[in-house]
Amino acid sequence: MRQKLVAGNWKMNASRELLERLLDPVAQEKGLACRLLVCPPHPYLPLAAEKLKSTDVALGAQDCAATPEGAYTGEVAASMLADLGVEYVLLGHSERRQYQKETDALVVEKAGQALAQGLKPVVCVGETLGEREAGKTRDVVLEQVKAILTAFSSEELVKVVFAYEPVWAIGTGLSASPEEAQEVHALIRKAIAEQDGQLAEQALLLYGGSVKAENAASLFSMPDIDGGLIGGASLDAGQFLAIAHAAG
Ligand code: 13P
Repeated sequence: MRQKLVAGNWKMNASRELLERLLDPVAQEKGLACRLLVCPPHPYLPLAAEKLKSTDVALGAQDCAATPEGAYTGEVAASMLADLGVEYVLLGHSERRQYQKETDALVVEKAGQALAQGLKPVVCVGETLGEREAGKTRDVVLEQVKAILTAFSSEELVKVVFAYEPVWAIGTGLSASPEEAQEVHALIRKAIAEQDGQLAEQALLLYGGSVKAENAASLFSMPDIDGGLIGGASLDAGQFLAIAHAAG
């Protein structure tokens, strides 16, 4: 049985006040069957680490550099994140693929840096509306997933989480249906199985895109959906915890 993971991606939203409002209830929540992960913006990671230190809530960053150190102004190295007690790092989010023009090759470089520092990459994949309408969902998602699968060994891949986030569902209020999401998750798990059957059984596959307390239970009841990557609803502690409770 895979333990479900419910992750909050705060994106570029944070302040000391928001951090307290969100993390105090999360840190105090008891009796959840799933594991929680919160991903605040980089400057808030030390404060978040402090708040979460005696809890089982995992801390994640939203990105890391593709290089280990040096003259890269503004970049944040995976080693620095590890130093702060960060466990997970989101990579290849569609917003970074769109606005920072991140390619699969760059996401692979970043995942390599993260893995070398003992961080667990959460690699985001997903098709745009145009790609879905053109019948290219399968090809687009498999290309993004296989870039990672072919770059790393099973020992490394055991630390990788994939998050299927259809771009058209992000921040739109228009979630994929449980069946649509399950179909893509099954496809991803099959691609992993072609490389390593045991790895496929263990792999955590999250769904992201307009997950709310109202639709979470039906999404999480699908056999290949192992939790969620939550954007907007993770900025409300009540909503986020209601989603976590829907994970069983
Ligand atoms: P929303 O939950 O706001 O649609 O965002 C999803 C997302 O992009 C999480 O990474």
